[in-house]
Amino acid sequence: MTPPLITLEEHWYSTAVLDSFDNSMKEGIKQWPGALERLLDAGELRLREMDKGKVTLQVISHCAADNPSPEVCRAGNDQLANEVRKTEEASKRFAAFAVLPMAHPAAAAAELERTVKEHGFLGALVDHKSRKGYCDGIEYDDLWRKAQELDVPIYLHPSRPEDEIFRQAYAGNYSDRATSVIGGAMWGWHSEVGIHICRLHAAGVFDRFPKLKIIIGHFGEMIPFMLQRIIDQEVIMGQRERPFREVWDENIWITTSGAWSLDPMRCILSNTKIERILYSVDYPFTTNEAGLKWFEELEKSGLVTSEELDFIAYKNAENLLGIKAP
Ligand SMILES: *[C@@H]1O[C@H](CO)[C@@H](O)[C@H](O)[C@H]1NC(C)=O
Repeated sequence: MTPPLITLEEHWYSTAVLDSFDNSMKEGIKQWPGALERLLDAGELRLREMDKGKVTLQVISHCAADNPSPEVCRAGNDQLANEVRKTEEASKRFAAFAVLPMAHPAAAAAELERTVKEHGFLGALVDHKSRKGYCDGIEYDDLWRKAQELDVPIYLHPSRPEDEIFRQAYAGNYSDRATSVIGGAMWGWHSEVGIHICRLHAAGVFDRFPKLKIIIGHFGEMIPFMLQRIIDQEVIMGQRERPFREVWDENIWITTSGAWSLDPMRCILSNTKIERILYSVDYPFTTNEAGLKWFEELEKSGLVTSEELDFIAYKNAENLLGIKAP
C-alpha cells in the first residue's frame, strides 16, 4: 500500500510574480502544455491532481521567478500565504516555501524571516542563480546565517541564465530549440545546480554555517553520480574544515523530482543516507500520476524496505520541515 506522499518541488505562480515577467519568460512557460493553467491554480484542479497521484501534502512554491525584486517577492509571498490557508482543505494539504529576491541577499534574508515568522512558511525555494550569478560570495552569508538561525531549508532550484551567457555556454551547430533544451532541462540547469553546491563548499559556506540545510531536486542534480570524483578532487583543491562527505551527509537533502527512472535511485541508495532522500514531483512540469507510477515501481523493485519507503515518501519531509502528513 502506498504510504502518504509529501512533495516539495511543486510550483505555482502569484499574479505578482507572473506580471513581473517579460515576454520570453511567458513564452518559455507556454512550451509546457497545460502548465500555465496549473501554475495559476491552488484550488480544485491542484487538489484533484494531487489525489490522482496520492499526494497528501504539497509544499507549494514559485519557480523560475526570473530575478524578482524584493517588492515582487513580498507581494507574491503574501498571495501564496492566502492561497495555502484559503479553505480548510487547503490549510490541511498545502504548505509553502517563500520566493526570495536572490539578487539582493540582505533583502532575501529579511524576506525569509518575515515569511517564516508571519506566514509560517517552511523555508524557501529559489532560483539558484540570480542575474549576478552564483551565490557563493560573502554577501550571501546574511541569507545562510538567517536560514541557519531560523532552522529552515533553502531549496536551490534550477534557473534560466541571461540569454547571452546561456548562448555562450550552450549554443552550437543546431537549432535554438536544441540549445534551450541542452542548456535547460536536458542537462544545463541540473549541472549548474550541482556546480553551485561545489562552489558553496569551496567557498567555505558549510564551514561557516555547519547547520545550513540545502535541498536540491532531480535526484541530487548529478552529484550522487559524481560523489567519489568530488571527494577525490577535494584533496587537490585543499580541504575545507568539513569534508564534502560530511557536507553531503549533514547539510544536503535531495528529492526525486521529475525524472522517473529507478537507475539514479540505485546509485543514490548506495552512497546517500536514506534520511536525505525525499519524494517530490515537480508539478505541473510532470504529473503526480507519473510520480506515483515510479513510486510503485520503487516499492516493487526490492531496492528499499517498507520502512525505507516510508522515509522517502513522507517521514524525511516531516522531520526536515517539522510537519505532519495529513
Ligand atoms: C552544421 O550542420 C549542418 C548539418 O546539419 C552542416 O551542413 C554544416 O556543415 C554544419 N556546420 C558546421 C560549421 O559544422
